[in-house]
Parts: sequence; structure tokens; C-alpha cells
Amino acid sequence: MGLISRVSSALITARNAKGIVDAYGRSPDRTVKGLVKEALGIEDPYIELGKIEVAADNIRRMTGDRSIDVVLGLGSGLGEFTELMTNRQVIPKDRIPGLVHPRNKVSGHAGNIVVGDIGIKTVAAIQGREHLYQGVTPREAVRALRALLYNGARYFVVSNAAGGINPSYSPGDFMVIHNHDSAAPYSPLVGPNIDKLGDRFPDMTDPYSLDLIELAFEIAEEQGILDRLRKGVYFQKYGPEYETRHQIQKLLKQGVGAVGMSTVPEVIAAKHFIMHPVGILGITLITNLAAGISKTPLAHPEVEAEAKKAQARFQPFVEEIIRRLPVEPRKIELAA
Ligand code: HPA
Repeated sequence: MGLISRVSSALITARNAKGIVDAYGRSPDRTVKGLVKEALGIEDPYIELGKIEVAADNIRRMTGDRSIDVVLGLGSGLGEFTELMTNRQVIPKDRIPGLVHPRNKVSGHAGNIVVGDIGIKTVAAIQGREHLYQGVTPREAVRALRALLYNGARYFVVSNAAGGINPSYSPGDFMVIHNHDSAAPYSPLVGPNIDKLGDRFPDMTDPYSLDLIELAFEIAEEQGILDRLRKGVYFQKYGPEYETRHQIQKLLKQGVGAVGMSTVPEVIAAKHFIMHPVGILGITLITNLAAGISKTPLAHPEVEAEAKKAQARFQPFVEEIIRRLPVEPRKIELAA
């Protein structure tokens, strides 16, 4: 552990112990100056790097130095996937110093990092990712992912639940994300760049790996679910409220396939990462028709119920994708 990590770890532990990290799980520095700096993302980049390194060190220690191949982000109601993994270790995220610990938990999001094996790959599944609507900053929302990439993970497979905007989509469909857009006010890369992690101005033309999109289609065909697999643009709304009819009509005109409240900050962080190549794949489960397209008002319990219903198709699909990921990701190519 480097000196910065050690000091940062000690500070975070001490502040946690004093209960200064409050229900919003925000910056440990609760002074007005600290909060303003955090909100503007202008604190010293080494502080953020220190927190990532502390989290990475702690995850290594807590898993007995297990090397991680794949980070799997599990969306609302999709957390049961971890039951397929063997040699499982469940680490509650609030026991990992360095990570942000919002106390306002979201139903359907367990709040663990579950490390386990799928075939010959070791997967770290993030059950209960932080959402911006919980009051965390985009940088905090990506810290667990960055810590796992820092520890060597070569793939980021991210799943989420979303409302279908494309009129041909139905609840229960999967949408492979081929591009994204976002209404989040700022990116996790705002603030001084952490040069060790990536470049100041990373390319974002096609963040999702084209060969992995092809792999997903190949597996869907083999599993007889090709008619339920779509390819589309994911739009991240800030949330937590669902969209208005007008917002959905605008997104429909823009060619958006589905709308949710997660994923984009993490994909930006994964694409930014340069310590080694990272293959990125995004899979959306359409849990409902979006506002105004749906004939009934939207409600989270129904989103969760639809996700539960889809587990029987989601689990074997994602399991096979993970088994067949190449050992090393290919360089991300641009779409033709
Ligand atoms: N909108 C935003 N997020 C969502 C939706 C939706 O309709 N469904 C599931 N997550």
C-alpha cells in the first residue's frame, strides 16, 4: 500500500468511525468548502485515486488476492444471478473502506460485491450500484468499478432495467446497448484528470465493444431468444422520478430505444481506463413500456416483478456470454 493510500485509508476509517459520513454518503468533508469542491469535482485528483486504491487494496485483501476477470454490474431485480457463481464470496460494500456508502438503499439492489467463478472466469458482481439519484456524485458512482478494473478486470458487462421507448419493444425483451446518451449534469471525469487511469479527453464514439455485441447475438440465437433481443440506444435519466410523456416523445424522436437511471457514468469510466484494455458490453432488460407509451402509471414494484420474471432467460444468457468472453478483449473498433 502506498503512502497516499495509507493516509487516505486512515482518514476515511477515522471519519467513518466518527459518523461524519452522513445518510447521503457524500464526501467525508462536510464543511461548506469541502462540499462545494466535491460538487464541482475540483478536489485534488490524488484524493480520488487514493480512495480507489484503498478500495482496490481492501477488495484484494478481503478476497484473499483473487484475481478478477470480469466486473458484472447487476441491474434492478437482476441480483440473483450471483447464485450461479461457484466459490462465492459476498462482501457488503459498506465494509469496504474507500467506497461510498449511501444509507438510502434501493429495493431490488442488495449492496454487495459478490466474487465467484463462472467456468474458468472469476467475476465480481456489483449488486446494488450507486445511482446518481441517491445523492452520490458521478465519480463516487464509478469508484467500485474503477477499483475492480484497477485490480486487473478485463471486462465490464453491465445490465440494467429500463423502460422501452421503441414501439416495437415489449416488456421482457433484452436490448444490447450499441450507444448511449445521458441527462446527467456532469461526467465522472469532471475535475482534474487522474492521469494514471486515463486520458483527459477519451474517445467515446462507440464505447460498447462491437465483437461482444456480435457474441451476444450469436448466443441469443443458440438459446432460441433471438426474437426477444434488440439492439438500441440507452438513455440515462437522472431520476429518481420516471419521465413525463413529453420527455419520452422527445427521446423517441431522437431514436432512443430505452430509458433507465444508471450505467452511463460507469461506461464512461470503463472507456476512460487505460491501464489495460477493457471490453464493454451493456444489456438492458425492458421491464415496462416507457411513460405515455404504457397505458398504466409506472411503479418500481412492477419493474422489479418484471425483472424477476425475466431471470430465467437473463441468467443463462449472461452466463454463456461470460463463459465465451475471449481471454483478452479486442481493441474497440468503430462501427462501420
Ligand atoms: N424509466 C426510467 N428508468 C426505468 C424505467 C423507466 O421507464 N423502467 C425501469 N427503470
